[in-house]
Amino acid sequence: MAKVNQGDTTHTAKHHRNKQIQGIGDNIMNIAIIGSGNIGSGLALTFGQTAYTVTVASRNVQAAQALADKLGRSNVQASSITEAVKGADVVILATPYDAVRTLANDADFAGKVVIDVTNPVKADFSGLSIGFETSAGEEIQKLLPHATVVKAFNTVFAQVYEQGLEFNGSKAQTFIAADDETAKQTVLTLANEAGFDAVDAGALSNARYLEPLAYMNIHFGYMLNRGTQIIPAWLSR
Ligand SMILES: NC(=O)c1ccc[n+]([C@@H]2O[C@H](COP(=O)([O-])OP(=O)(O)OC[C@H]3O[C@@H](n4cnc5c(N)ncnc54)[C@H](OP(=O)(O)O)[C@@H]3O)[C@@H](O)[C@H]2O)c1
Repeated sequence: MAKVNQGDTTHTAKHHRNKQIQGIGDNIMNIAIIGSGNIGSGLALTFGQTAYTVTVASRNVQAAQALADKLGRSNVQASSITEAVKGADVVILATPYDAVRTLANDADFAGKVVIDVTNPVKADFSGLSIGFETSAGEEIQKLLPHATVVKAFNTVFAQVYEQGLEFNGSKAQTFIAADDETAKQTVLTLANEAGFDAVDAGALSNARYLEPLAYMNIHFGYMLNRGTQIIPAWLSR
């Protein structure tokens, strides 16, 4: 496990430095982000501003290194996919859904908490590729039977991270669905530390509803021209 990073000087990093982050074990968690594209970059930016250690990984290590260099934070590094997963407590899958089938053979995910950010949107954006009687989250759990899959962050546009997680004075919500309560609590904590209002969304099978919700968000954003600085949220009173 990595120690708390001492190199960063932002308020957020200082705020977190002396704080015990709940999660796996007693130390700061290592987060591996697989994929250095839009979402991988957004999540690396956001988690790079916490005290967690972040390793970005890509099939092309140079792409991951370029992202780490761009972020320029000592708690964000780059490596191969295999090495990143090996050293991680929590692995974020920031790749296309279909990529997970091959990824499952690229690294040993046993014992890891795996955050599934994917939305199985068809290439032509005409709908979801796997229907409504299962979900990417559940299918990924089948592909990675020795890992614990948690659905999270899939309803947040990548562009949101560039402008921060505050919307008109409220924190952006993210919905966390998992069957394993410990893994779910880990990700709720991690998301809250990153600046989200993390919402317990029940069992992993609720990914069947969270993925269509993300697709509706894509509709609002692109087809209904509301742009990408939008986010779904549940209101209470
Ligand atoms: N963009 C959004 O606003 C958004 C929001 C919520 C959820 N999502 C979901 O997040 C995921 C990523 O979306 P994105 O917009 O970030 O896509 P993207 O910009 O195209 O990035 C995809 C990343 O996945 C990697 N990749 C592709 N195939 C791979 C494989 N077989 N093994 C390992 N890595 C592979 C690519 O790496 P290489 O450099 O090696 O090609 C690239 O870094 C998708 O499932 C999407 O539905 C996206």
